[in-house]
Amino acid sequence: MTHQPDMEKKLRLLFICLGNICRSPAANAVMQKLVDETGKTNKYFIDSAGIGAWHIGQLPDKRMRQHAQLRGYNVNHIARQFNAAHDFDSFDYIIVMDEENYEDISTRARSEADMNKVLRMASFLKAYPNDSFIPDPYYSGAEGFEHVLDLLEDACAELLRKLEKQ
Ligand code: 4NP
Repeated sequence: MTHQPDMEKKLRLLFICLGNICRSPAANAVMQKLVDETGKTNKYFIDSAGIGAWHIGQLPDKRMRQHAQLRGYNVNHIARQFNAAHDFDSFDYIIVMDEENYEDISTRARSEADMNKVLRMASFLKAYPNDSFIPDPYYSGAEGFEHVLDLLEDACAELLRKLEKQ
């Protein structure tokens, strides 16, 4: 059989935050742009979801959309809630923004195999070694959104480097 790159199984990444309207849809967009710009679009499927149900069906927070747009990201994910059975089965890695997310997702894991899929976004930070989580910008000003985007750009670059090495 001839080599068919498009038929290869994609690596499936799911970014998680609390509301799925600020951090995880931004991570989704940052990672998608990085993957697209490095010619790896066919290798990855990227999605995001929230722990909570408050914002299901909504576009991302307007402030996040505006700050991200200034950096060239189209943050247009429609919010959905994490579904343990579906998402643990469907995704290779489930990448959380903070320790509260980590606890929430961990308690939903059904097996060690599920648990091994859960990664902390902050563990991929290189330029911000003192940040141990991606902070919720919802109640912050503009600087909070900019800081989240700085962290996400740094972590996504390292995440992609690590995934490409494995
Ligand atoms: P996110 O931010 O988890 O980065 O999407 C939040 C947005 C909204 C709420 C919490 C966090 N909320 O409680 O409505």
